[in-house]
Amino acid sequence: VMKHAKNLAKTETKIEQAGVIGAGIMGGGIAYQSAYTGTPIVMKDIQQNGIDLGISEATKLLDGLETKGKITADKKQHVLDKITPTLNYQEINAVDIVVEAVVENPKVKHAVLPEVESQVKETAIVASNTSTISIDYLAQPLARPENFLGMHFFNPVHKMPLVEVIRGTQTSESAVAKTVGYALAMKKKPVVVKDCPGFLVNRVLFPYLGAFMQMVHEGVDFIQIDKAMESFGWPMGPAYLCDVIGMDTTVHAANVLADGFPDRMKYDFTTAAEHLLKNECLGQKNGHGFYHYEKDERGKIT
Ligand code: NAI
Repeated sequence: VMKHAKNLAKTETKIEQAGVIGAGIMGGGIAYQSAYTGTPIVMKDIQQNGIDLGISEATKLLDGLETKGKITADKKQHVLDKITPTLNYQEINAVDIVVEAVVENPKVKHAVLPEVESQVKETAIVASNTSTISIDYLAQPLARPENFLGMHFFNPVHKMPLVEVIRGTQTSESAVAKTVGYALAMKKKPVVVKDCPGFLVNRVLFPYLGAFMQMVHEGVDFIQIDKAMESFGWPMGPAYLCDVIGMDTTVHAANVLADGFPDRMKYDFTTAAEHLLKNECLGQKNGHGFYHYEKDERGKIT
């Protein structure tokens, strides 16, 4: 399937301009990666605060590269100039693909996706960066489901090579191929997967996180679990990973998977993760999660 999509990607017209809806952890990362690899991108949010965060994230990453001597000040400015931040929907009307990256809530996505679709040209691809929600379900309110699919990046976007391209029942071959082409242009490794709750990676990951939550509930120290999993060879343990993902996104995603696979996802996220969420411990995004985080003078989380 991948070979076929990659071959087809070569014959499809290139993505000249992209858009991203939601300038949070993921939207900001997608904007940075697209601009850095040469595709201009419009970044739309509903709040100025979100946009400011997205731009400051991109600037921080570029500052880091400049300090290491990997890019010049000119290149940095050139990349930043390729990101157009906006609160205004009309700015996305010329894009060839738009990636929706608003909160992981099916109701919000069902409201936002048709709005996005009505703003873009008829041939534009509308993609969702959802971590878990079924693409066929998200396609329900859309007028052009053939142009809709999942384009699932991983966090942090600039570091993680994998992108899941999720084909819904009605998604056209051309939309899959163009999206694979865009992922390759962004220097990512796309994999085309079928639609189901959690797709490929999160179907494997969330039962693991569920088992971890269960152990914490039973009284095992999460720091010991993290240390053991890191010594086992994982780049970060499960508690730290939940903090990176964000507790709200983790709980939303766990609920979607539990609804989709009730027989397999029997582990209870209402224990540790929901307790943290109720206490506003969102993870790195607000500095409190399983761990506490401080920002250094450059705004880097430590
Ligand atoms: P976030 O909470 O950091 O950012 C969401 C942004 O969307 C906020 O800036 C908010 O103002 C904005 N927003 C909300 N409603 C909007 C609307 N109607 N129009 C425009 N902007 C709107 O969320 P995050 O973590 O970036 O997640 C976004 C999506 O990416 C979710 O679907 C999530 O499941 C998915 N995802 C998250 C990953 C993670 O590790 N955090 C990894 C891969 C996918």
